Amino acid sequence: MSKRPASSTARAHSNIALIKYWGKRDAALNLPAVGSISITLDALYTDTRVTFVPGMARDKVEIGGRGVDAARFTRFLDLIRARTGSAQSARVESWNNFPTGAGLASSASGFAALALAGSRAAGLELSPRDLSILARQGSGSAARSVFGGFAQMHRGSTDDGLDACAEPLLEASEWPLDVVVAITEREAKKVDSSAGMSDLDTRSDYFDAWVSHSEDDLAGMRDAIAARDFSTLGELTEYSCLKMHGLMLSTRPGLLYWNAATVAAMHAVRGLREDGVPVYFTIDAGPQVKALCQPADTARVATALQQVPGVLETRTSALGPAAHLLD
Ligand code: DP6
Repeated sequence: MSKRPASSTARAHSNIALIKYWGKRDAALNLPAVGSISITLDALYTDTRVTFVPGMARDKVEIGGRGVDAARFTRFLDLIRARTGSAQSARVESWNNFPTGAGLASSASGFAALALAGSRAAGLELSPRDLSILARQGSGSAARSVFGGFAQMHRGSTDDGLDACAEPLLEASEWPLDVVVAITEREAKKVDSSAGMSDLDTRSDYFDAWVSHSEDDLAGMRDAIAARDFSTLGELTEYSCLKMHGLMLSTRPGLLYWNAATVAAMHAVRGLREDGVPVYFTIDAGPQVKALCQPADTARVATALQQVPGVLETRTSALGPAAHLLD
């Protein structure tokens, strides 16, 4: 038995998907309808401290020093408590170093950090694979933030979800790339990912096509990563992004996450490409644009995006490490 700390603190970095996850095959276990491939970002992260407090009546959760509704976190902590047989409530204190809930993957870094800190505070030492399975049950994209560099999430095929986890493809240092995030809005989005992607089989006529072509997109991206082929990686990244947003637009009611500055930034990225700069965009369930480039071009890409009307600020990130303990 490992020594049981009552408290543990972990850091997990945000990630963005190059091949997107959207849609679930089982909502209760949070099993994705499709696999996905992502990169973990060094500059965007969540630090989370979990403390199990004897005698406390219910879980208490603070994000950035402000109390939030604990229901989603309690459901997640119950998964950890079920493994240890403990009924102790927890205090969760979490800090994002970026805006929460605005399409910068706070649920990815948040639930990966919570999975690591919570399991360690409960005295569990989970393998990266088991940690990824646990994190997935908080948020699908969180399964990928357990790993650094490039990671692939498997949709899995079993009903219990034990094969729906991420695995590392490349370490960050094996292929240095940069991401310039153009922030176009700081408010939290109106429709979160879970609500947006629920029941897609009945809400979008495009859903079957999205699922049936996903393995081709994943295979193409794995090949591009293995060959360090940046232009193929970039083209597939834009393709998967636009295809996902096509699916979102086709949903009843239609999901439109972009604002005017989002569209202007997409055109700016394509304009840079016409000028010979290899840079490609991707966008998640929010209005921020993430431009993917090679380090030699990062300064030029950031300068161009800062000049786009409506872009409030840019943040640049290299690829980042796996989730890790801070204590
Ligand atoms: C658009 O992981 O936030 O960012 O599993 O319901 O928590 P839940 O969804 P979430 O969805 C992320 C969707 C996406 C694309 C991606 O990250 O692959």
